[in-house]
Amino acid sequence: MTYGTIPSAAHSTSTATSALTKSVTIYTLQKLKKSGEKFVVISLYDAHMANMAQRCGVEVVLVGDSLGMTVLGYDSTIPVTMEHMIYHVEAVARGNKKSLIMGDLPFMTYATPEDALHNCARIMQAGAHMVKLEGGAWLAETIRMLSDRGVPVCAHIGLTPQSVNKFGGFRVQGRNQEQADRLLADAELLEQSGADLLLMECIPATLAAQITQAINIPTIGIGAGKDTDAQVLVINDILGLTEQPPKFSKNFLLESNDIPGAMQKYVAHVKAGIFPAEENTF
Ligand code: KIV
Repeated sequence: MTYGTIPSAAHSTSTATSALTKSVTIYTLQKLKKSGEKFVVISLYDAHMANMAQRCGVEVVLVGDSLGMTVLGYDSTIPVTMEHMIYHVEAVARGNKKSLIMGDLPFMTYATPEDALHNCARIMQAGAHMVKLEGGAWLAETIRMLSDRGVPVCAHIGLTPQSVNKFGGFRVQGRNQEQADRLLADAELLEQSGADLLLMECIPATLAAQITQAINIPTIGIGAGKDTDAQVLVINDILGLTEQPPKFSKNFLLESNDIPGAMQKYVAHVKAGIFPAEENTF
């Protein structure tokens, strides 16, 4: 093995998954939703892991601003800058030529539609195929402008970590009827405004299922139960690197021989509807 190349999983198991052979696009994800096949998303930050994701069949790679915590050692995503994001999107894009690459816009870089247009251009030119923005109804105008200008958008609702100070902590959202109604209305509005994907974080599974039924675009869940069209986890959680892992995550390395094996197991368990289990759900 040459230094830096990526090993295959040590033993092939029943969870072996296939490498991506074709580039994944928005159209691929729409087709998967229609066919009922779950797709898999991992938030990761470097070329090596990005290449492994392609080899394990991960359809979407998110370069998440969670890198503020997982890579840079901050307590939240608030200190993350465009420069951090561009550096990591470029690295991921060098390592992975097949998955759809989604880049987060960090805190306060899309507060106005003009800022969003400018910063989306920067992250797309760094190698992202799509951007992810956190927020509800207030984002509708921005998403319309981006969509009209050819920028695919994933809208992120529920527990939106850039608003952690407003929420007073990392808390499950949508638990009461008023919040649940607002999240459903936001999802419908964001779809009408041109969002291509909807990510829902830390909301009750029943609400995520209801939203997934109510809209036509594919949904991605994290802490949102098993009935979304896709699941996302942060690579550090998949590999057991997080000191106090969130309830919705799982350390797949515990059941695997090596890191590629853990990634394959995550992919296989999402595809088979085994992950998330009841214990990972609100
Ligand atoms: O930043 C990130 O990695 C994310 C996921 C946790 C969804 O937004």
